[in-house]
Amino acid sequence: MEVVIRPDGEDIAGIVADVFERLLTDRPDAVLGLATGSSPLAVYDELVRRHEADRITFARARAFMLDEYVGLAADHPERYRNVIERAFTGRVDFPPDAVHGPDGAATDIPAACAAYEDAIAGAGGVDLQLLGIGSDGHIAFNEPGSSLASRTRIKTLTRQTREDNARFFGGDPDAVPHHCLTQGLATIMSARHLVLVATGPGKAEAVHHLVEGPVSAMWPATVMQHHPRATVLLDPAAASRL
Ligand code: GLP
Repeated sequence: MEVVIRPDGEDIAGIVADVFERLLTDRPDAVLGLATGSSPLAVYDELVRRHEADRITFARARAFMLDEYVGLAADHPERYRNVIERAFTGRVDFPPDAVHGPDGAATDIPAACAAYEDAIAGAGGVDLQLLGIGSDGHIAFNEPGSSLASRTRIKTLTRQTREDNARFFGGDPDAVPHHCLTQGLATIMSARHLVLVATGPGKAEAVHHLVEGPVSAMWPATVMQHHPRATVLLDPAAASRL
C-alpha cells in the first residue's frame, strides 16, 4: 500500500485527477469506480475543470458506483444515483446510461445484487476505484464486521454512519435510511487500482487502523493491505495518528 501525505485536499485532488487523466488517455473506455460522500468532491471538481479545459473526455468511459441507500424515492436528492450526477457525471460528458449503481428500489434485493456483480464483471471489472473511508473504518457501506470475502448485498447502517451522514438529511440521523446495498469488500478488492482519499481529524483513527492495524473485519478498510495496487492519500490531520 502506497501512503502519500500532502498538505491539503486540493493538492490531493490534483494527484488523483492525474491518475484518472493518465488512465483515460491510455484507455478512453476505462471502467471507473465512483464513490459518494464528501471526500471525493474535490477530485470531481478537478476532473470537471480538466474536462472543461479539453484535457479529459468521459464520452467512452463507464462507471460503477459503490453503494446506494434502500428505499429512497427515484427523485430524492440524496439517492446516490442523483448525488453522483450532481457532483460529477452530469457535469461532464459521461453518457447517462454508462453510469451504474446498485438498485436500491428493487423488490428482489438478492437478484438485484447478483445482477450488479454480473454487470461489473461483464464490463471487464473496474480499472480505477475511488474510495473514501468512514470514521468507523467502513469503505462503501461495508460496516465493521463485514466479511472480507463479501460481494454486493444489503447491509444495515450503523448508528455512527447514520449520524455521520445526517448532515445530508437536514441534520436528522433518523431521516437517514437504515439499509443500503453495497459492493462487498471482495468486489472492491477485485478493482485493479484502489485510490482512497481521507482528510481531516475525524478520519485519523480509521486511517491508523487502515495503514498500521492488523487486517480485521472490525476495521473493514484494512482489507486494502492485501491489494497489490492501493494508494492512500492523506492530509496531515488524517495522517496524525500514523
Ligand atoms: C459514506 C459512503 C462511503 C464514504 C463514507 C465517508 O457512508 N457510503 O462511500 O466513503 O461515507 O464519507 P465522507 O467522505 O463524506 O466522510
